[in-house]
Amino acid sequence: MSAVTRLGILISGRGSNFLAIAESIREGRLKGVEIAVVISNVPDAAGLEKARALGIPTAVFDSKGRKRAEHDADVAACLKEQKVDLICLAGYMRLLSPQFVAAFPNRILNIHPSLLPAFPGLEAQEQAFAYGVKVAGCTVHFVDEELDHGAIVLQRAIPVLEEDDPHMLTMRILAEEHKAYPEAIAMVVSGEYEIRGRRFVKRSS
Ligand code: GRF
Repeated sequence: MSAVTRLGILISGRGSNFLAIAESIREGRLKGVEIAVVISNVPDAAGLEKARALGIPTAVFDSKGRKRAEHDADVAACLKEQKVDLICLAGYMRLLSPQFVAAFPNRILNIHPSLLPAFPGLEAQEQAFAYGVKVAGCTVHFVDEELDHGAIVLQRAIPVLEEDDPHMLTMRILAEEHKAYPEAIAMVVSGEYEIRGRRFVKRSS
């Protein structure tokens, strides 16, 4: 990667993870990184306004009614034009085409609100709560062709409390996400790791 790693952040909604990454950069906790562009597939995603307010370039590629591969090709072209080194999915509610994944090998991260491989897919926090797990959390992982599946960079666990309800649990997991994502990005940007099979292993110096 170049001296400064350029992030492309893909969102569909609120954008709180994007904001947490932006804050980490602004506060100097996430070094050697800049956000090149925030891309949304939903034109009125709230996260877009937040990006504009911070003066971060945004792009919208409405995915409604479009073929996946064609939509993804537009997104990929934008990311390449913006010279993006690392793509961060942050609440991007759309499956990626195999062509898109292949175009950025080990260069796409996602955050998922469960301890994978438990509870992939939608409403992971509600799934975990309903299952009655005692420990929940979040996972930052590389993206491969399968949903919520690639090599795990980092996980954070929290206890499920007696007084939790699904909303409270979701909010406490989200607070962990906001710490975990910048931390995982820093680990990847450092380049000090190898992927052995499915295992993300830090290189000892
Ligand atoms: C987060 O819970 C993330 O783990 C999941 O979607 C949610 C996005 O929230 N993939 P936000 O848009 O970052 O606020």
